[in-house]
This record gives sequence, structure tokens and C-alpha cells, in this order.
Amino acid sequence: MAMHVEHRPWLDATRPVPERVEALMAQMTLEEKVGQTHQVANIHPDDDAELLRQGSIGSSLFASGATAGNERDEGVLAHNIDAAQRHAVEDSRLGIPVLFGRDVIHGHRTVFPIPLGLAAAWDEELAEQAGEIAAHEAAVDGVAWTFAPMVDLSEEPRWGRVAESLGETPVLSGRLAAALVRGFQGEDPGHPDRIAACAKHFAGYGLAAGGRDYDTVSVGENTLRNLHLRPFKAAVDGGVTTVMAAFNDVDGIPMHAHRHLLRDVLKGEWGFEGLVVADWNGVGQLVNQGVAVDLRDAARQAIEAGVDLDMCSGGYSAHLADLVRDGDIAEGLVDDAVRRILTVKFRLGLFERPYAGEPTRSNAPTEQTRAVARRAAHAAHVLVSNNGVLPLGPDCGTVHLSGPFAEEGEALLGTWTLDGRGEDVVSPAAAFRERLGSERLLVSDGRFSDRSVQQLRNADVTVAVVGEHSWRSGEANSVSDIGLPAGQLDALHQLARLGKPLVAVVYTGRPLELGDVMDLADAVVVVWHPGIEAGNALADIVFGDVSPHGRLPMTFPLTTGHIPTSTHQRPTGRLIERHEDPRLGRYLDDLVFPRLPFGHGLTYTTFDYGVPRLSAPQLTRSSGSVRLEVDVTNIGDRAAREVVQLYFRDPVAEVTRPLVELTDWAVLDLDPGETGTAEFTVTAEQFAYFGRDNTARVDAGEIVLQVGPDALTGKRTTLTIID
Ligand code: BGC
Repeated sequence: MAMHVEHRPWLDATRPVPERVEALMAQMTLEEKVGQTHQVANIHPDDDAELLRQGSIGSSLFASGATAGNERDEGVLAHNIDAAQRHAVEDSRLGIPVLFGRDVIHGHRTVFPIPLGLAAAWDEELAEQAGEIAAHEAAVDGVAWTFAPMVDLSEEPRWGRVAESLGETPVLSGRLAAALVRGFQGEDPGHPDRIAACAKHFAGYGLAAGGRDYDTVSVGENTLRNLHLRPFKAAVDGGVTTVMAAFNDVDGIPMHAHRHLLRDVLKGEWGFEGLVVADWNGVGQLVNQGVAVDLRDAARQAIEAGVDLDMCSGGYSAHLADLVRDGDIAEGLVDDAVRRILTVKFRLGLFERPYAGEPTRSNAPTEQTRAVARRAAHAAHVLVSNNGVLPLGPDCGTVHLSGPFAEEGEALLGTWTLDGRGEDVVSPAAAFRERLGSERLLVSDGRFSDRSVQQLRNADVTVAVVGEHSWRSGEANSVSDIGLPAGQLDALHQLARLGKPLVAVVYTGRPLELGDVMDLADAVVVVWHPGIEAGNALADIVFGDVSPHGRLPMTFPLTTGHIPTSTHQRPTGRLIERHEDPRLGRYLDDLVFPRLPFGHGLTYTTFDYGVPRLSAPQLTRSSGSVRLEVDVTNIGDRAAREVVQLYFRDPVAEVTRPLVELTDWAVLDLDPGETGTAEFTVTAEQFAYFGRDNTARVDAGEIVLQVGPDALTGKRTTLTIID
């Protein structure tokens, strides 16, 4: 029943999107509008045919793959999406296409490091490239929208979802989030190779009590504004088309019913014009959270709060029309949601190109995409200690590669990889074998079950690949103890007893307790879950073809009992002075410093920092900038990359401010003996914060700037902000 543009003016792609939206909405019944707010999981072309024809399904979650031949997870995740789309576009009264969303979190077929590993690169260009590749590969499968990037600030390593995050600081998370949004969406998300992005989970989810997933959140608006909302703002300013509400409450108000944060702040104050999607059954869960009597009540509260698209609860579909007819909500609320949903559909070009079509283009990893994945995996390697054993030289002799991940593929992909394939992963053993040949490589699973200890003694050096399987992090995978999984420390003790140099490679989705590992091993590399180029990247780093340059995007606490430990720590009334016992008033039984500070990461050379220079000692509150420069010299004998980090402290403000906060960074690639200059443009805006009345302000006064290789170590200078 295709109709001409004269009868369907919204199909005229030359008209501006708002006009097309209004033209379409003018034709829609209340039921058809409500249909647009309904997202179903795993849409099925036959089972859902009738609903699609009625215009009762606006969006789908998970379905992927244009044709049946492209299906992988049969019957669960992949469906014939074009067949479903055909019902919506050709058999429904108004022909509104379905919006297909899917979790494309750190790559689609070409799997990059988990987001926390990608964050360790501190590289916006790389993040953008990864997003662009993922978008292209997902678009080939008919996916129009990804539920990424996740920008929940994560300072709680027990929480499994830190793996999906971009770390603990607003500036690093915000800039990488904006870069990923650019990668996914490009200049125009309607381009056939681009997809819509989604900043999630708004807001405060990273503060889930005790690190238990989905738990409650107690945080005040000031901390939200000064920290947790900032990466969302960066994503919104970067043009993200959608935002997802969080499962948690914030100080008693579930986010799916949080009118103030969703309507007043996100849509009002920030002018966000895209759509807000619920999280999975987040609308229905308002009943479990004890703020709604039933699903109808939940739907009313969620639409009033500003949730536009209902992911899978069915509450909108079942109740919104009645709520309007009964006078319980204004139809304008539904109109506002539908306007936003349709705007995204028009902007994505779905009315022009609703179908994925035959997958004539392959989306399997290519040489080019693997090269980017390998670079990203290099950057996910954070060298946290090294007594000189690394890199292994050409005459390192026989290497014993030991541990549960030596031959692994799948486990190194990381959490949330719906489309990554274990067989695409280069395992550590495969990459080491390629370099050393079978003669110089012994491989064991770390339990000494397949080789006698005697044989292992013949090896000259042991590389132990330990840590977490990717199943041990991610959604719903929190732990109460951030020690290594059971048995691994014992295995490391046994390996250390062999008396050979020991390198520990720690694959992980979260900061772990590494004290014993650092004591036992001659070098420790934290790698996160690195994706399909895992083995190649490890070999490049271990054998010194590439100098490690990853930097921790999260603080590593001494032990589980020290959580939370992060750079956000604010001053108390009892400061810990350097000359005092650092335990004073804190723990009786331990220090209060982190094991590894935020930003930490060693390499195969040493850098010497000069004294930071300011182009002027003062800066006006409302305008202008000063230049901050610091010379950094590579005083070792290998080329390497240094991530020069700029932190600040505002010593006197209206509210307590962090003892140290990242505000910028610069990357220098330096040859042996070379000196480079890290240059920063500093504006007063960088020191803005939300004061007692929760409005943004910049104060006159002193700011202490600190430049160095991590949050704890650095050289300081002072800048004065004047009126
Ligand atoms: C997660 C979201 C995800 C959604 C859809 C939820 O359980 O919290 O991050 O995008 O499922 O898969």
C-alpha cells in the first residue's frame, strides 16, 4: 500500500525534520502514537506481524542480521529484521519504520578492548575510530542504534559494570564519550554507515550501594552535578541522539520517575532534544521499587518524568492511551515523547532506508579493522610494575606461558560482546608460538596438570596470564572481594618458587587487589579484556616491539576494605599531613593510600619532568586563557609515549572540592634523549563548579595546578583567577 509523497508529505526528504514530524503526527491516532513508544525485545516477523501492521511497535531491541542466513544465535538474538520491518513499512497504515537497537558496546564483529580498557588509551582519536568501525559493522546487520557509550563514573571496583565504563573522572569519561558519539554517529547519523548512540545510564548508577548491581544510590545533587552528570553533559553537547535512564534511584527517587533530573535538567537546562529510553523493564520496576502501585501507575510516572520510549515493560503500550482518555495525563506528554522518537527516526534516514538489505558487504574483521583493534589493545596494557625483566629480549630463552588464559579466545573478548566471536581472537599462546616457535615455548594452564614441574624448570622465564574471565565482570556480575579468583594466587606462588623471572599479566574487567601479585612477580601488566587482538598485542608489549603506554582510568585500592578510593576524594576537617601517621583517624590496621593511583602506568623508558611554566600568573574569571607548558625528556634508551596529565585543586570554594581533579592531558611520543613540550590551554571555565545553590560558578582566588604522570605524582604551580 505504498503511497505517493503528496499524500504522505513526511516522506519528502527535502523538508526539514521538524516539519516532517508534524506532518506525520497530524495523521496519527492516539493508539499509533502510543505504538511508537513501545519497544519490544527480539522482534519476530511472524509472531509480531499483527502488532507491526497496526503500528503498535515503535522499536526493537537486540534483533540483528538482515537475512536469516546471517543468524548466529539462532532464535534468540538474531532475526530476520528486514522481514519485520516490511510489515511496519509496507503493511501498516502510516508506514513508520521500526527503530532497531542493539548493544554494540566495544565493537561489533571487530571487538576492541572493553570500554575501561579503551579508556586506558587516553586517546580520543582512537575511541572515535573504534566507534566508527563498530557503527559500520553494525549498520551492515541492520542495527540503527547502539546503547553506548556508558558514561557512569565508576569508583567502585566491586561493581561489575565498571568494565563498561570509561573510568572514574568526568573529564576523561566525558571526552572519550564525546569521541565515541562522533565515531558512532559521524557528522550525520543518517549516513548509511553510522548509527545513533546512547549515553547511559542517567544518572548515578556508578554509585550503586556496596557495588551491588541495580542497588540504591544515595547522592546529593551537588555531587551529581560536580561529578556524575558531567560526562552526560559532554555527550549531549557532543550531539548524542539518545539517553538511557538508570535502574537505580537517586536519594529515594527512581530515575525512571525522576522528573527533576530528566525533564528539568537533561531536557530543560541542557536543551537535550533527543529521546530518553527506559532501561530494560525500568518502567515496570517502579512497582518493585515501591513507588508505583501497578504498571499503569508506573507508566504514568515514567511518561511524566520524561521517559519517552519504554524498553520492554509493556506499560506504555498497555496503559498510555487509557491514561490520556481518563484524563490522568495530558496527551501533550505522549506527543512530546513521540515527537522525539520520530525525530530520531527521521534523522537516521529510516524513512528513506528502512531496510538493511542483503548483506552483500561483509562485516567480518579485516586487516584494517584488526590494525585498529591491535593499537587499541596495546593501549589497554598498563605496565604497573617492572624490575627490568620486561621487555623480554631476543635471547630470553624458553618462555613458559602459564595460566587459565594462555589458550583462551572467548574470555578475552570481554563483557557485552553480542557479535564478537571467540574464533576471531588471537590467543596469547598463538601469538607467542608465532614469535618463538614451539621449541622455545611451554604452555600450561597454571595448574601444572599438563607438564611436570621439572619440565617447567627448563623454561627461562614465566609469563603468567591470570585474572578474571569476562563472565566475572559486566552487568549483574559484581563481587564482594576484588582479590584474584580462587586458586590463582596459589598458582603464582608455585610459579615464583620455580625461581625464574616471573611476569604476571592480569586480564580483568575491574581494578583488582594486586599487592601480593606485585610482591611475587618481577613485572605486572594489567590488561583489561583486550578484544580480538589480545595475543598479538601482548606479544608486541612483552617482547618490546611496542612500549606500553596505557594509563589506569580507575584507582586501584589497596584492598577491598578500602573501597571507595578515587581521585574524587574531598578534604575533611582533619587533613592527613605528610609528617603525620597516615592512619590517623582512618583505619587502625592499614594505610589509606591507593595501591595504584589513577593515571598510573609505566613504560620501558623513564621520563623527566621540567618545572611547569605559565604564560601569565593570572587569568580573568570570565574570559581569556593562559598557556601552561612543561618540558618532558625521555632519559631512557627506548622510544615511548608519555601521557602528561594536568590536575588541579581549588583550595577554597563554596563547597568541598576534590583534593585533585583531572582537567586535561597531552600525549608526547619521544625518542631516547628527546625533549618534548606538553602544552595546555587553561581557561577559568575549567575550574567552574556547582556551588551551594547548585548553580555553576567560577571563583576568584588561587588554583593549584599539578602536572605529572599520574594523580599522585606531579610538579605544581599556582594560577590566580581574578575578576
Ligand atoms: C542494561 C543496559 C542495556 C539493556 C539492553 C539492560 O539490562 O542495563 O545497559 O543497554 O539492558 O540490553
